[in-house]
Amino acid sequence: MRHTSYEKWRKSRLDNYPCGVEKLRVDIAGLHNLSGAERASISAVVRQFNMCIYRCRDTESDRLAVREFASALGLNRPDLHLCANDDGVSELCVAHEGVRTEYVPYSNRALSWHTDGYYNAPSHRVRSVVLHCAADAASGGENALLDPDIVYIRLRDEDPRFITAFEHPRCMTIPANEGPQGEIRPEVTGPVFSYEKEGHIHMRYSARKKNIRWRGDALTHAAREFLSSILAETGGPVFHYRLKPGEGLISNNVLHNRTAFEDAAGSRRFLYRARFFDRTGTG
Ligand SMILES: [Fe+2]
Repeated sequence: MRHTSYEKWRKSRLDNYPCGVEKLRVDIAGLHNLSGAERASISAVVRQFNMCIYRCRDTESDRLAVREFASALGLNRPDLHLCANDDGVSELCVAHEGVRTEYVPYSNRALSWHTDGYYNAPSHRVRSVVLHCAADAASGGENALLDPDIVYIRLRDEDPRFITAFEHPRCMTIPANEGPQGEIRPEVTGPVFSYEKEGHIHMRYSARKKNIRWRGDALTHAAREFLSSILAETGGPVFHYRLKPGEGLISNNVLHNRTAFEDAAGSRRFLYRARFFDRTGTG
């Protein structure tokens, strides 16, 4: 990015802050038949923050409705990963049997900071995610959310070499996922920051200590330390929100985490999640 256009872009992103989570919110009738005005409202918020929290008046939802909603917002190329159903929509709830029991998202444990699909090959970047809440937990299950554009700016302001470290094609390696029947996913190596044709920033990141190999140089270490300090800020640009039934988050794969949660007897937290190779909010 040329210096003058970067400065202009930087200012336009930072001008949105500080602000409360209510700025992310848009009310809609439901997931079906999104009106032109509703689509425009969601896209406008996404363009500002790379994410939007929508609230449906009609709280009925199913997998098909989530795909219809996503499609209305330009998301038509789903990531058909291991735990998704063949329509690309995963059902996030506590799993008691099957392959899902081996993955933290399908438990009630806390999830550390990450972007979705950080273990995907570069040819399968997850550019957007819809997370729709059908039922919330008795307690817990709050998300923290942070726009990668802000992370990029904060790192570059602190030390432009942090960006160089995070752009390195061997910056972050996710070892192969091995199952009892052999390799489920090969090892994946790539940068934290990469760039779309239109100039949008794409971020791969996981704060997990296990199963991630970082490039061992001092600059990468310092960049990671500084990023951790941004993620730990309580009064910074991090949003906190606990989705309620009928609410959802549509985002250009922003950084997020999740607190642990407890289900009540006879009911369970249940979210639909669909990941796409398309960005949203561009139209
Ligand atoms: Fe996630």
